[in-house]
Amino acid sequence: MTAHRLHILCAGLVALDMEFSVPAFPVMGLKHKASATRFLGGGGALLAATAVQILGGRASLRGAMGDDALANLLAERIRDSGIPLDGLHRIAGEVTPHSAVLIQPDGERTIINFRQDSLCDNLPLPDLNFPYDAALCDTRFAKLSTPVLAAARAAGKPAVLDAEAPVRNIGSGLQEATHIAFSMQGLEDFAGASDARTLREVARSLQRWVCVTRGPDPVLCDDGAEGYSVAVPHARAVNTNGAGDFWHAAFTLALAGGKTERAAVTAANCAAARHVAALPPAFP
Ligand SMILES: Nc1ncnc2c1ncn2[C@@H]1O[C@H](COP(=O)(O)OP(=O)(O)OP(=O)(O)O)[C@@H](O)[C@H]1O
Ligand SMILES: [Mg+2]
Repeated sequence: MTAHRLHILCAGLVALDMEFSVPAFPVMGLKHKASATRFLGGGGALLAATAVQILGGRASLRGAMGDDALANLLAERIRDSGIPLDGLHRIAGEVTPHSAVLIQPDGERTIINFRQDSLCDNLPLPDLNFPYDAALCDTRFAKLSTPVLAAARAAGKPAVLDAEAPVRNIGSGLQEATHIAFSMQGLEDFAGASDARTLREVARSLQRWVCVTRGPDPVLCDDGAEGYSVAVPHARAVNTNGAGDFWHAAFTLALAGGKTERAAVTAANCAAARHVAALPPAFP
């Protein structure tokens, strides 16, 4: 008998990433030559869905692209990664979200993204039966993420929110999440700081399990009663693009598999550290 592959619904931004490896950060007003380049599936939802597949789960996507040439290129990339295209809508007259991503030699990434905020405003409603093991959503499109989080929560499944700035963009969707994992930029945007005391206040006011990822520094977690930190393994970073999305995918898979939050953060830290170091995946 084949083991059940945990099925995760990833909803949010689907974009084409145009990555350029550069020897140093650009100097204003000058022309620069990249040492390498690649075009790949990007955006929180697509990077997370790709990570789910890499880590042995099964991913479904909900999101939208435009009806332009970029959409054709992106659809080809997605098909190659084995993720079904049926939850990805093509919106007439819209531009497919895309990003310029600079990668420096120490792995640090700098991103400029273009997306229309209204791109996902009129998608069909998700299946309210929620035939998945968990949902993972981002804060980019409130009208997309909120009903997905609500459906997961109503089904008693983990409903994880990747809380990136601007977090308030998600509106009432915050209340639909069972777990909210902020980036540092996200928590600073939402609460003005990203320290343990601020996280405690946010956990209490939202009455949710919350955490904040901080790159190579320990992840701070708080359930409103207990705060703790989980160390990140040392990694020789070569490319940190999508580190957070890989982390959220691993965290969601671990929760869906029945792990505690602390164990899920530990598993996500291990998986994301290997990802930024470009090592083969490992998922405890
Ligand atoms: N240099 C690094 N070394 C080891 N692990 C890292 C490193 N950078 C990121 N990680 C892992 O990835 C997780 C998420 O990273 P980070 O907090 O930078 O995400 P982010 O700010 O949301 O960025 P993005 O979503 O754009 O990838 C961290 O908690 C850590 O587990
Ligand atoms: Mg992130």
